[in-house]
Amino acid sequence: MSEYILVTGGAGYIGSHTVVDLLENGFCPVVVDNCVNAIVAEGHKTPESIRRIETITGEKVIFHNVDLCNKKDLESIFEKYKFSAIMHFAGLKSVNESVSNPMNYYEVNLGATINLIECMKAYNIFNIVFSSSATVYGIPERLPIDESHPVGNGITNPYGKTKYFIEEIFRDLAKAESQWKIILLRYFNPVGSHVSGLIGEDPQGPPNNLMPYVAQVAIGRRPILSIFGNDYDTPDGTGVRDFIHVVDLAKGHISALKHINEVCGCKAYNLGTGKGYSVLEAVEAFKEASNKDIPYKFAPRRLGDLGDVHADPTLAKKELNWTANWSLSRMCEDLWRWQTMNPTGYNPNEKI
Ligand code: UFG
Repeated sequence: MSEYILVTGGAGYIGSHTVVDLLENGFCPVVVDNCVNAIVAEGHKTPESIRRIETITGEKVIFHNVDLCNKKDLESIFEKYKFSAIMHFAGLKSVNESVSNPMNYYEVNLGATINLIECMKAYNIFNIVFSSSATVYGIPERLPIDESHPVGNGITNPYGKTKYFIEEIFRDLAKAESQWKIILLRYFNPVGSHVSGLIGEDPQGPPNNLMPYVAQVAIGRRPILSIFGNDYDTPDGTGVRDFIHVVDLAKGHISALKHINEVCGCKAYNLGTGKGYSVLEAVEAFKEASNKDIPYKFAPRRLGDLGDVHADPTLAKKELNWTANWSLSRMCEDLWRWQTMNPTGYNPNEKI
């Protein structure tokens, strides 16, 4: 019998790619999602992303429209399935929104996680993989950033702080109770989509992140890209990031799951490639992959942005036997396929 894995936020960008991999690896994911950021087609109850996963894998996906902030509803899911582990993706994720409405971010991201932990304890489940972020490192003291780099200093927005606070909760929990096996996965900059072009990143409104914005410029949905800052201390003056293919990232979760029983307490791993590319290099790579012109202009630095952020991914290779395989050009090709097949994302009725 395959193991039930609870996937919170499984209809989202990274969650949906991981659900595909879970199914392909013989696990039985149970997706819970409150659909605040997911498109549900008319006449359906299941988000479009989940229906597309069913097309990709040929398997039925167990889905429940549940908000983790509603503890009773969450308990009913734990009552129904005996989970062997939890993958916790759910949460609000807009940096900008978190600055203007911090309490909503603290309430939702922390509240949901606390409810989840309480349900896990009540049902004697102690294995969890959490979606953390490179943002917890704050301003890098050294590069590349390894997991022993200090965390929590100089995080500039409430979204990033929720990731750090949740990490702290997990560290305290593991110290207090020896049965926990917790893996914190610190993502760098996920890009791309599944090779089918059926699932991908679907930002609601103008994208905050670089590559979805570039893709929307390429397809004519936005006139021009603003490059925030060309005076950073980097080779060409633009920001440098560790872009990682979302499918590589999803595979990192499967590796974490397969190794979770070796973890004692709470352990963090970077999921990045180890290589940084500048904004201009990323734009150039996308231009080549799409064969489209990407008009851009330089604009002032974005508040809170950092110059160079890239990972040392050695620990994940050594202990999880995971490494990122796909190049920046592959990320761009796959993102472009998703963008051309779905010019308005999962919502066909949205205006271009
Ligand atoms: N950028 C632009 N123009 C844009 C968007 C971004 O020039 O329209 C630049 C940024 O200034 C930065 C780079 O592109 O130099 C990458 O920006 P992203 O917004 O794509 O990514 P960030 O590294 O700023 O943020 C990402 C995630 C956050 C996470 C953080 C952790 O979006 O959720 O990494 O490091 F917290």
